[in-house]
Amino acid sequence: MSELRKVKTAVVGCGMISNIYIRNLKNLFSIIDLAAICDINRTAAEEKAKIYGIDRIMSVDEVAESAEIELVVNLTGPAAHYDVIKRMLLAGKHVFTEKMMTTDLEKGRELVALAEEKGLYLGVAPDTILGAGLQTARKVMDAGMIGEVTSCVVSINRNQSMNSEMFRFLRSEGGSLPYDVGIYYVAALLSLLGPVESICAFGEQAPVHKHQLLFQEETQDSWQIPGYNLMTGTLKFRNGVLCSVHFNGNTISSEQSMIILFGTEGILKVGDPNQFNGFVKLIKPEGGECLIPHSHGYNGASVLPEPSPFDGYGHRGVGAAEMAWAIRKGRKNRCSKEYGLHCMEILCGMESSADTGKVYRVQSDFEIKPLRSGYYSTMEGSRGDAELSLVE
Ligand SMILES: NC(=O)c1ccc[n+]([C@@H]2O[C@H](COP(=O)([O-])OP(=O)(O)OC[C@H]3O[C@@H](n4cnc5c(N)ncnc54)[C@H](O)[C@@H]3O)[C@@H](O)[C@H]2O)c1
Repeated sequence: MSELRKVKTAVVGCGMISNIYIRNLKNLFSIIDLAAICDINRTAAEEKAKIYGIDRIMSVDEVAESAEIELVVNLTGPAAHYDVIKRMLLAGKHVFTEKMMTTDLEKGRELVALAEEKGLYLGVAPDTILGAGLQTARKVMDAGMIGEVTSCVVSINRNQSMNSEMFRFLRSEGGSLPYDVGIYYVAALLSLLGPVESICAFGEQAPVHKHQLLFQEETQDSWQIPGYNLMTGTLKFRNGVLCSVHFNGNTISSEQSMIILFGTEGILKVGDPNQFNGFVKLIKPEGGECLIPHSHGYNGASVLPEPSPFDGYGHRGVGAAEMAWAIRKGRKNRCSKEYGLHCMEILCGMESSADTGKVYRVQSDFEIKPLRSGYYSTMEGSRGDAELSLVE
């Protein structure tokens, strides 16, 4: 492994989520050489460079023009994603982007075609699908423990308008609950059940929100999150599974995360797909609910010394590292552009069905292989073999 050339990487976008990415990319994955960080607001990059000991700050132009940077990890807000991804692909960089790739399906298709044409990798979060919880769920399903899946139910809720007081990017395109959080549920389903064939859905907008948090400095008196903030619908998967979807951003933030898969031989309950360590519970015709131990590593627990307040965000960055291995090995990456586009088409398809009252037929396709098992060792001073699971 030590002879392998590391992938020179730059992070673009030094906001809230960059804390965990920078920490993990710098320290956790031997395949990544985090060479520089960048933000349109240089002060933001300077702050993170100081906290995480990064030697080099680049401007966006410098990243694009750099001969040494091979991979750009795009952590800007969704509204900036299209421009940043396109710019970096045109500059010949591989790109791994935080979700959503874009919120406009045509632009998503354009980016996928551009990466294809240029022979570049384009990877898309959420990479929680590579975490211990969802990989274990996949293993249980691949082992046939619930037989053939016939249906499933997913649900998540938050007060998205209240959350947008704190997280301002939620007030722009991509900030509604289905795009910001529902995407984790869509991604989890796709990683377990494969591609979707058709969609029907209904939607409601967020209410106009009046500024409420007095301690938060604010320039807007009121705003409305764009798009549908509440959506219900049905997904028909290509393998025949029927899935009820409920994403409600117009309620309270006491999250009632739910993913339940009903099979001919059992029922599987899967924990929060926005975490790396979601539970996996199996129910068979006789006996009660049984908690399945994680069959994989990347369970979100920090293995780095000196805990940081952002460790709760888990193993974010694992998708970029898995892609870096794919680049060096010349194989397909798991959080691929096709997977990202399909995730996006599900959400855009729900929106389209809610707009038109018609069933939306999905066009895109993808495939995703499970990871092999690999754990971090609990022995002091040893990193264990978790990263080995990302190699093939
Ligand atoms: N905050 C979270 O809890 C969280 C969790 C998971 C995923 N995400 C995703 O991560 C992404 C970033 O979220 P965040 O919370 O860090 O947002 P943020 O608003 O805190 O940070 C975004 C940063 O990008 C910079 N930026 C904007 N446009 C730019 C451009 N064109 N070039 C360079 N820099 C630019 C901004 O100056 C800002 O510093 C989003 O896609 C979000 O969906 C966020």
